[in-house]
Amino acid sequence: MSNNEPRNIPRHVAVIMDGNGRWAKERGQERVYGHINGVESMRKVVGAALRHGVEYLTVYAFSTENWGRPAQEVQALMELLCKSLANETAELEKNGVRMRFIGDREALSSEVRAAIAASERATEHNDRLTLVIAVNYSSRWEIVRTVRALATEVADGKLAVDAIDAEAVSSRLLTAGIPDPDLLIRTSGEQRLSNFLLWQLSYTELYFTDVLWPDFDGEAFDRAVEAYCRRERRYGVLTK
Ligand code: IPE
Ligand code: IPE
Ligand code: MG
Repeated sequence: MSNNEPRNIPRHVAVIMDGNGRWAKERGQERVYGHINGVESMRKVVGAALRHGVEYLTVYAFSTENWGRPAQEVQALMELLCKSLANETAELEKNGVRMRFIGDREALSSEVRAAIAASERATEHNDRLTLVIAVNYSSRWEIVRTVRALATEVADGKLAVDAIDAEAVSSRLLTAGIPDPDLLIRTSGEQRLSNFLLWQLSYTELYFTDVLWPDFDGEAFDRAVEAYCRRERRYGVLTK
């Protein structure tokens, strides 16, 4: 991109970080080796997002369905999350990053909940980039809890049925106040959403790459943003 071209940087980029297990297997290592190396990719992508002036970066770290993996892998992922938060929060704080977590916290251990709360607290005054980390997240779970919240408000006489519109739903999701993603990146060649942000991705541009997550870096992020800049977003209407 030349400097003369209008900047059309996505405000919000969502990422399904996939392929850690296959990356490790290719190297004859245990799956957890891929997860450990994936943390480095995460650091590079945060750096690239800051460089581009992206305002929101949402990453899928652990899905509700991931509990179905072997206990040893789940345990390793939870420990890695705690360790990474302990190691990275100060640097993120210094770089103006605000951290927010979405997902069902109830099922997480007290250690993980404490680590999450500490990172949110330490960075809550920042506003350069909001890093949203989805942990024990599933979009259907999020939508179901929102439907329940709306139904409760109606039953309590606090909300009229006619007042339920798209905005009423959006404002009760865990992503309330965050604009919908402009760009979704999924690594590792899989082309599916795996229960991630189903409501929020309605008009998002999808970008799939064969690169496995531990190989994804700032340049790979640049390529995704460049591809996004070439897209024409129509939202169902005629633009030409
Ligand atoms: C993504 O990599 C990380 C998580 C889902 C936690 P995977 O662990 O899914 O790696 P593959 O897809 O099996 O290669
Ligand atoms: C999606 O990846 C979840 C995360 C990246 C945290 P998975 O590897 O769990 O998804 P599937 O099984 O390929 O759909
Ligand atoms: Mg996977």
